[in-house]
Amino acid sequence: MPEKFLSNLTDGSYRIAAELHQGDDEHSLEVRSPVDGSLVGKMHEFSHDEIDKVFYLTSLGQVDWANSPIDERARILHRVADNLEKYADALTEVLVMEVAKATKDARDEVLRSADFVRHTAEEAKHLVGEAQFSDAFARHNRNKMAISYRVPLGMVLAIPPFNYPINLGLSKIAPALVGGNAVVLKPPSQGSVACAMLAELLWHSGVPHDVFALVTGRGSRIGDYLVQHPAVSMISFTGSTEVGRDLANKAGMVPLLLELGGKDAAIVLSDADLQAAADHIVAGAFAYAGQRCTAVKRVLCSEEVADELVELLGRRIATLAVGDPRDNATVTPLVDPAAAERALSLVDDAVSKGAELLGGGGRRGNLVEPTLLDHVTEEMDVAWVEPFAPVLPVLRVVNAAEAVRISNASEYGLQAALFTRDVDVATQICMRLDVGTVQVNGKTARGPDHFPFLGTKSSGMGVQGVRYSIEAMTRIKAMVINMSDRDLSEIH
Ligand code: NAP
Ligand code: G3H
Repeated sequence: MPEKFLSNLTDGSYRIAAELHQGDDEHSLEVRSPVDGSLVGKMHEFSHDEIDKVFYLTSLGQVDWANSPIDERARILHRVADNLEKYADALTEVLVMEVAKATKDARDEVLRSADFVRHTAEEAKHLVGEAQFSDAFARHNRNKMAISYRVPLGMVLAIPPFNYPINLGLSKIAPALVGGNAVVLKPPSQGSVACAMLAELLWHSGVPHDVFALVTGRGSRIGDYLVQHPAVSMISFTGSTEVGRDLANKAGMVPLLLELGGKDAAIVLSDADLQAAADHIVAGAFAYAGQRCTAVKRVLCSEEVADELVELLGRRIATLAVGDPRDNATVTPLVDPAAAERALSLVDDAVSKGAELLGGGGRRGNLVEPTLLDHVTEEMDVAWVEPFAPVLPVLRVVNAAEAVRISNASEYGLQAALFTRDVDVATQICMRLDVGTVQVNGKTARGPDHFPFLGTKSSGMGVQGVRYSIEAMTRIKAMVINMSDRDLSEIH
């Protein structure tokens, strides 16, 4: 199977991947392009019996994998990285059509994933344990030594979202594999053709079939069965807060790594470099049509400079390329018509309550025009709800304290961006913001991928990022050596 995939990879490749995993039963999953409605693939939807079989085989395979040298697992991951680069064109091609991502961004996703996999392989080689003596604890002698090191959790269920199927797939798969786990990947429906190609690439690179498996199908049909399966030792999920919360309720006592929704604020104070702030905000809000968890999703601007900032934002937005991802547009069609409807209903709600529409607000099919809303207030849904679309609301605030209050009033706590030249103020605000990360004088973003990436409140649980992800997918195993008080002069 991999040979067929690879021999065809340079030409019409995603169609080959789709054929290899094709379903023709009544439940097979038809993947259509958000760009032009064309058929990207028809994927097999796994039955419960097939899922049981996958877990049974990968549970068996995990035992040998866990006992294989870390260096060998790392070598295989290096081959995965090499193949990602080798087949980047083919993977890019499918991402562009399947999730409507601009060609340059899709290519970046693949190359960034190769870098991530390499970094993960190297990081795993340098994981060290520790030794502790008992006499550090009150009323204990030095007669015990604990040696602790990391062991795999067992079976990691990896569930990425549609917006980075390859990258957020590999951000789970690579740390899990190098940590000695087996992995079952449940790809997003829209993104399952790209993930099928990725699966072929992993197997071809030397990841055993009984250590990594792909299970395709709609989350609404097979999700509950997967997350409650007794073979699963850990779930790494990225997606909406709604699904993440439901999953957490159902999964029971397994460790969870959840990266969920966000409503990241860009706070702009009156002393900021406004041109730089506007450039960062527009890049942060509109890249990939705003379909990023870390997108800037609202601006909280000091009223003293709001007119000037809004003017700069408008001018910058007017330069954005809007249209077809194959032409490298920044604002491309959203993943489905429902996403476009949701976004525009937020705009309608805001306008009906007095917000000023300064551009956009229209739609062509799934494509929502880049939209700027000024004079947004806390009474409007767009101040709180994640649009996952190219819609940017501006709220004017009287001072930094109000900006912090509004930022923290969100149910989410992923990131915030703060624009000021005053490092003292930046430090104080950073300490008060209830988010995983504050970006000072820069847009909100996940990378570089070895940085800690996390959310508070409804934005998630646990920490992602190369070392943090390996740690989340392994656990400490301790051995305690109990020493006698024998007299060594009597030992020969
Ligand atoms: P989603 O609808 O929650 O889907 C995410 C994944 O969960 C998909 O693979 C989906 O499969 C699967 N799924 C759906 N129902 C399931 C169930 N009952 N059990 C198990 N899995 C299930 O999210 P999305 O629309 O793909 O992505 C957009 C959302 O993700 C936004 O809220 C965004 O903020 C968030 N996100 C967060 C981060 C972060 O790192 N914090 C990163 C990216 C995206 P199907 O596609 O088959 O339904
Ligand atoms: O969509 C969620 C991703 O984790 C965001 O990653 O900031 O690199 O676009 P990014």
